[in-house]
Amino acid sequence: HSETVRTVAKWIQDLEKQGLPKIIVLCGAGVSVAAGIPDFRSPGTGLYDNLQKYNLPYPEAVFDLDYYRQRPQAFLSLAKEIWPGVQEQHSPTLTHSFLALLEQNNLLLRCYTQNIDGLEFLGGMSSDKIMECHGHFRSASCIRCGSPADIEKVKESILQQQGTPMCEQCHIGHVKPDIVFFGEALPPRLNLLIQNDLPRASLMLILGTSLQVVPVSLIPDWVPSSCRRVLLNRELVGNLAIGTGSHPNEKSRDLFQAGDCDDSILAICRALGWEDLLRKQNEA
Ligand code: OAD
Repeated sequence: HSETVRTVAKWIQDLEKQGLPKIIVLCGAGVSVAAGIPDFRSPGTGLYDNLQKYNLPYPEAVFDLDYYRQRPQAFLSLAKEIWPGVQEQHSPTLTHSFLALLEQNNLLLRCYTQNIDGLEFLGGMSSDKIMECHGHFRSASCIRCGSPADIEKVKESILQQQGTPMCEQCHIGHVKPDIVFFGEALPPRLNLLIQNDLPRASLMLILGTSLQVVPVSLIPDWVPSSCRRVLLNRELVGNLAIGTGSHPNEKSRDLFQAGDCDDSILAICRALGWEDLLRKQNEA
C-alpha cells in the first residue's frame, strides 16, 4: 500500500475507536464513471465534450435555467438519455459500496453528492445520510411558479418526446425534473445540513469531483481546520495543501491519492481488512 492509503486507513481506524460518525464525503461524477456514466468535464469523454448535436451556445447551457426557458428541447432530449434506469440500469461502484460500509460502521456523518444518478442510494446508504446537492429525477416542478408536478406524467412526456411539460397550476411555466440548474437555488436541506454537520466533521473524503461548481466546491473550505481532507481523484483539484500526513512534523491535514477512486477505495479497504465486506456489499 502507498503511504497515503495506509494513512487514510489509520485515520478511519482511529475514528472507529471513537465510535462517532465524523466522516463527511463529497462526491462528484468521477465516482460513477466506473458504472459507465460519463463525467462532465473530462476532455473527450465528459458530457460537455459530447453535446455537439444540441447546437448549444456553450455546453453548460443544457443545464441553464434561462436557456431552458428559451429552448427546452436540448435538456429534454438529454434528460431522455440520462434518466436513471431508463436506457440502462447502472450498478453502484465499489466506491458507492464503500460509502454504505462507512454508514454500517457508524462512521458516516453525511454524504454530499453532486450526482443525479441515484447510485448512492442503490449502493446501500440510507436516504437520511445522502444529501443530493444538485437534486434528482424523482420529482419535478414548475420553473415559474414552483408548483410540484406529477413526476410520472413528466417522465412519460419526456421519454415519449411529447414536447415541453407545462405546469398544470399556472399553465405558463415549463416543468422540469428537480435537478438543480445553473441559476437555481440549491435544496434548502443542504444549508441546514451544512450548518449542522460541518462543525462535527473530523475527516472529509473528496471523491471524483473537479470542484469547479460553487457552492458545493466550497464545502471543503468550510470544515474546521482540524478536519483532515483526503482527495481521491484522477487529477489534483481544489486548493488542498497536500502533504503525506504521516510524519510527526508534517503539518498538512490534506492528502491526495491520484487515480481512479475505485482503485484507491479498494486499496484502503484492503488496508482496513474490509475487502470481503466491500465485495459482498457491491454484489448485494
Ligand atoms: P466533473 O466532470 O467536473 O469532474 C469529475 C472529476 O472526476 C474530474 O476531476 C475527473 O478527473 C475525475 N474522475 C473521472 N473519473 C474518475 C474516476 N474513475 N476516479 C476518480 N476520479 C475520476 O464532475 P463534477 O465535479 O461532479 O452539475 O461536476 C460538478 C457539477 O458540474 C455536476 O454536478 C453538474 C456539472 O455541471 C449540474 O448538472 C447541476
